[in-house]
Amino acid sequence: MRKRIVAGNWKMNTSQPEGIELVKSVIEKSIVVPKAIELVIIPPFTHLSEIVKLSKGTSVKVGAQNCAEWSKGAYTGEVSAAMISSIGATHVVIGHSERREFFNEDNKMLYRKIKQAHESNLIPIYCCGEKLKERESGNFFEVVEKQISESLFELSKEQMLQVVIAYEPVWAIGTGKNATSQQAQDMHAFIRFTLAKKFGKDIADSISILYGGSCKPSNAEEIFARPDVDGGLIGGASLVADDFITIAQSF
Ligand code: 13P
Repeated sequence: MRKRIVAGNWKMNTSQPEGIELVKSVIEKSIVVPKAIELVIIPPFTHLSEIVKLSKGTSVKVGAQNCAEWSKGAYTGEVSAAMISSIGATHVVIGHSERREFFNEDNKMLYRKIKQAHESNLIPIYCCGEKLKERESGNFFEVVEKQISESLFELSKEQMLQVVIAYEPVWAIGTGKNATSQQAQDMHAFIRFTLAKKFGKDIADSISILYGGSCKPSNAEEIFARPDVDGGLIGGASLVADDFITIAQSF
């Protein structure tokens, strides 16, 4: 059975004291979430160390929003996967559409970041998803297939098993307009089919694929009920502890 995951990507929000209050609240409320559901909090870098300490001994895991494509050296401003791992974080988001758009991250660079994550035993949460004009022009399956093949197809089967995928249609991110549960299911099934062609059905069937994009308490239950949707990558709603926990209870 695939792992079900609800991850909260805080993006560039909260001061450190606010983030600490928020994570304390999430931890406190998380007792109502079944143990089988993995909760991952993904705060800004400045909060990571403190939040890892607070989450020790709880069921909440902690991840970073990005990592460098290199292991170390003269790359001012970058943070390596090894640094993230060294403070006890377990996950790292790779290839969020905001990184692709504002920082020109491309599929090949994201492959190098995934490799860095694996070398430091971090689980990459690899994001893919089409833009609005790609949805409207009807070539969204091709766009996502390219994102999957160019960033993931050089991994070994063992490495592929250590990846979580997040399908986040760009037109649904922060817009209040989520993909329908049918649109999410269709794309998740397509991603799994694409992975199965390369890595085999057993591996494709083992990989958690999360939906992201205006996922909130009012729509999570319907989206999570679809057979190929294994959870969510939550932006705005993860900044409100009650909403995040309600989403995690939506399976
Ligand atoms: P929203 O939930 O705010 O639409 O953001 C989704 C997202 O980008 C999570 O990574």
